[in-house]
Amino acid sequence: MTTKSRTKHEKKKKIAGNLAYNMGHILYVAQLTGDLEKKKLISSMPKHDQERYEIAFETLLRDGLLVHEKKRDISNYSLNPEKFEYTKELIHRFVRGTRGEIKVKQIKKNPFFHRGPIKDTEHFIGRESLISHIFDRLRHTEDCSIIGPRAIGKTSLLHYISHNEVVRKNHLDPKKYIFVYYDLQRFGENTKIEDFYYEMFSQTSQQVLHGGLISEGEIKQINDENPNVIKEINKSLFEMRDLEGLIGALSERDYKIVYMFDEFESIANNPTFDFSFYGQLRALSGNPGFQVAFITASKKSIYELTFQEDIKTSPFFRYFEDFRLGPMNREEIRGFFRLAAKNGVIFSSDMRNLIEKWSGGHPFIVQLSCDYFFNLVMNGNKLKPEDGEKHLDIFLKRHKKHFAYFWKQVDKREQTCLWRLASGKSPGRDCKGVLENLEDSYLVNKEKKKYRIFSAAFEKFVKNMPSSKSELI
Ligand SMILES: Nc1ncnc2c1ncn2[C@@H]1O[C@H](COP(=O)(O)OP(=O)(O)OP(=O)(O)O)[C@@H](O)[C@H]1O
Ligand SMILES: [Mg+2]
Repeated sequence: MTTKSRTKHEKKKKIAGNLAYNMGHILYVAQLTGDLEKKKLISSMPKHDQERYEIAFETLLRDGLLVHEKKRDISNYSLNPEKFEYTKELIHRFVRGTRGEIKVKQIKKNPFFHRGPIKDTEHFIGRESLISHIFDRLRHTEDCSIIGPRAIGKTSLLHYISHNEVVRKNHLDPKKYIFVYYDLQRFGENTKIEDFYYEMFSQTSQQVLHGGLISEGEIKQINDENPNVIKEINKSLFEMRDLEGLIGALSERDYKIVYMFDEFESIANNPTFDFSFYGQLRALSGNPGFQVAFITASKKSIYELTFQEDIKTSPFFRYFEDFRLGPMNREEIRGFFRLAAKNGVIFSSDMRNLIEKWSGGHPFIVQLSCDYFFNLVMNGNKLKPEDGEKHLDIFLKRHKKHFAYFWKQVDKREQTCLWRLASGKSPGRDCKGVLENLEDSYLVNKEKKKYRIFSAAFEKFVKNMPSSKSELI
């Protein structure tokens, strides 16, 4: 062998030796991200390695470990679930002896277990642009109102924005923001206004005393300068000036307090919370010496809630900006697929299509559908393309109560119009206004002048509702 051909041969051998490692690396990235853009990936590698990654990529494609998916104008590649055993082996070659190995070994835990609000950041998906707008308002302690139908993610969003890392990511200083969450559902008919303010006071002081944000030394200093404002007191001893004193002292030290009132409609029907109450609440956020912002969460816009007419004219409502939470878009739904991949399960493109179709982007149904397919894959089962309807039936049977809840949220007229749509009948002129309203609550959407029920799963549920057939308008 000449020196030249020996060098060539050695180069080839070296490439082959590293190839498995490079292939493992590519697959590892694909597993973490859910899909890949080839050019982007190759160009992110060191220049001298790019040729090897190019060969590794082609080999993976040739062996069918990566599959090509063309979505609109973007060409993406994802793991082939059929070949997951080989994929796992190669990924292990790449991560062996690294911290990543432990991660890879630990995977395959179903992350789609949420049925109530999401409390950790790892499982919260999407809503980026809305969140960044909310932070733009919080930067200037301006009020926000989050509006969205049931289970669309309002409470999850409130929890998410109060995490330190999220505050930091949105360019605010988490050391200066105190988030106080409370659910107004707990205030029953007999609640007094003092109860509401006492709750505000005690939650704020609890947060300050035990939240770890403000040091003991600083608490002592604040209490020395402003006679004992940070304290725990009994409800019977509470006065409004305790709350004002606390907010004033914290604001003076440049702490901003964000009060998050979840289920805001709970007090809308309560006559105790009258015009003067809203005036007083507004005075807290409007006081130039106080750095306070309110975020409300409700199913309807706070103007549309059933307040008495005079209350609607209260300046309280004027300062809120509305943020509507609706179904998630494609990119957000892909966030769920990435979460599945990070946990060791790759959804096939048939599964992805079904998840999109069944859910119509409603995050709760995306969550339920991902849970369904995650378990299917974990149990070693495959989805045959022709079995879609069979799986939908099992899914509906399993989650009947959730769909029944959507159904019970609408009145009889609305049920009738939904049933007509689901059964492929023309909804008729008398459904026009009804369907427009249902579109506002995202239960139907309009495509090419035609209404459709937002989710294939709910559509099938509605179609199977026997009572509606006889109750046409
Ligand atoms: N951003 C998100 N990421 C992942 N899952 C989400 C997200 N938002 C909502 N979900 C899913 O929807 C479910 C309901 O969310 P959440 O309880 O926050 O909704 P809600 O609007 O507060 O509902 P309700 O009106 O009943 O109070 C969660 O359990 C979760 O499964
Ligand atoms: Mg909620």
